[in-house]
Amino acid sequence: MRMEDLIYFCAPARLIMGAGTRAQLPALLQRLGYRHGLLVTDTFFTSATPWVDELVAAARAHGVALMVYDGGMPDPTTTLCDTATAAIRAQCNGEPLDHVIALGGGSNIDLAKALCLSLPGGKPVREFIGMIDSATPILPMIALPTTAGTGSEATPGAILVDPESATKVAVMDNRLRPAVALIDPEFTYTCPPRVTADAGIDALTHAIESYLTLDAARFDRGGDPDPGYSGRNALTMLFAHESIRLCSQYLLRSYQRGEDTEARIGMSHASLYAALSYGSAGLNAVHGIAYAVAGLTHRSHGTTNAVTLPYVLDALRDVRAGEMLAVARLFGIEDPDPHVAVARLPVLVRDLVRDLGIPTTLQQCGIAQDDLETLVKDALGVTRLAKAFPVPDVPVRYAAIVRHAWHGDLSAEAPSMAPRRAA
Ligand SMILES: NC(=O)c1ccc[n+]([C@@H]2O[C@H](COP(=O)([O-])OP(=O)(O)OC[C@H]3O[C@@H](n4cnc5c(N)ncnc54)[C@H](O)[C@@H]3O)[C@@H](O)[C@H]2O)c1
Repeated sequence: MRMEDLIYFCAPARLIMGAGTRAQLPALLQRLGYRHGLLVTDTFFTSATPWVDELVAAARAHGVALMVYDGGMPDPTTTLCDTATAAIRAQCNGEPLDHVIALGGGSNIDLAKALCLSLPGGKPVREFIGMIDSATPILPMIALPTTAGTGSEATPGAILVDPESATKVAVMDNRLRPAVALIDPEFTYTCPPRVTADAGIDALTHAIESYLTLDAARFDRGGDPDPGYSGRNALTMLFAHESIRLCSQYLLRSYQRGEDTEARIGMSHASLYAALSYGSAGLNAVHGIAYAVAGLTHRSHGTTNAVTLPYVLDALRDVRAGEMLAVARLFGIEDPDPHVAVARLPVLVRDLVRDLGIPTTLQQCGIAQDDLETLVKDALGVTRLAKAFPVPDVPVRYAAIVRHAWHGDLSAEAPSMAPRRAA
């Protein structure tokens, strides 16, 4: 308990988790009264796995007709969403859909969320950026994540790339949280190492960033009576803490040995728990700077987060020392002196990023030194994230983080003391 907490906690209406649980879905669709749905996925799943055919056949046996759209792409654009909306509406020929299912990583889930908004009225998805009118019809959504993960199955938003501005935009509303999030870890067993690493570091970033973010009692909800994000509270911190513990055990293992089912299941739990934390608490500087890095480099979401995370941690040592000590202990940093232990955490996280085959400096990501000023400006431009960074001098710290991330400087480098990561 935290005495001054103001808890506002939102999650998917139903959470189903466990190896093989996908078999439960067709009967559940029938029980929920659905009859005509859309399955959003990509060609990997229609061509290389039996999951789409199995689900369509089993749903049909339960009286539920599923139309398949397999045009999903990594980092979906607003254009893709609008094209898909037109094609699917034409194919439906006036017969209404009553739910949307997403099978895939964060990209397919986000595309499906956006389609839940755009399909009923056929409007361009850009019209839903910002506050969504409460009268807007939104189709119920079922998320089947195949990566561990973005946690999009538990969050209120869909992230899309806007080709006009080359930046990521969000459509966000608590009604976009899935009616069902079914996490079957077996879906992740086919993830190649690169996808495993990118998604896994995304989960760890979500957990750490939301564990350290602004307190709910100080969070500016902007007068929204139903905020998607509202700062950290005791409940979100419980989930974040457990997620970080699981990542410390299983993230590197799942990357190095994809056939390690315990590690795969562990990371599925880590990803979901991270989402149950950040999906209400929200995020801040890592994602704010990462969006700006992605705008310049078009690197993956996980990579742009990973390259930023150690330097943001380094910048929080003064204001979040207690929480960082707890994270350091979870990662097996045992120095009795808490200052030393906290100082070693960013170094350990940067070593982990390196061990996952991800660049550890902005320079290695291909960013020129001349771009740093623009980068800081773009990152600060994502005001909802900058406002949640729990420091008094946000612009100054953003500038320092970006500078250090470019050079690869951590204030307490101690490579010779690199601790053993928890086994
Ligand atoms: N809405 C949110 O709350 C939220 C949060 C974080 C990230 N995101 C978004 O999620 C996206 C990243 O998602 P991601 O990291 O899950 O990757 P992804 O969905 O972009 O997928 C990357 C690639 O991996 C493949 N893949 C996915 N699962 C696989 C499996 N089980 N086996 C083999 N291949 C598989 C996909 O086909 C794709 O080619 C970004 O666009 C990011 O902006 C959204």
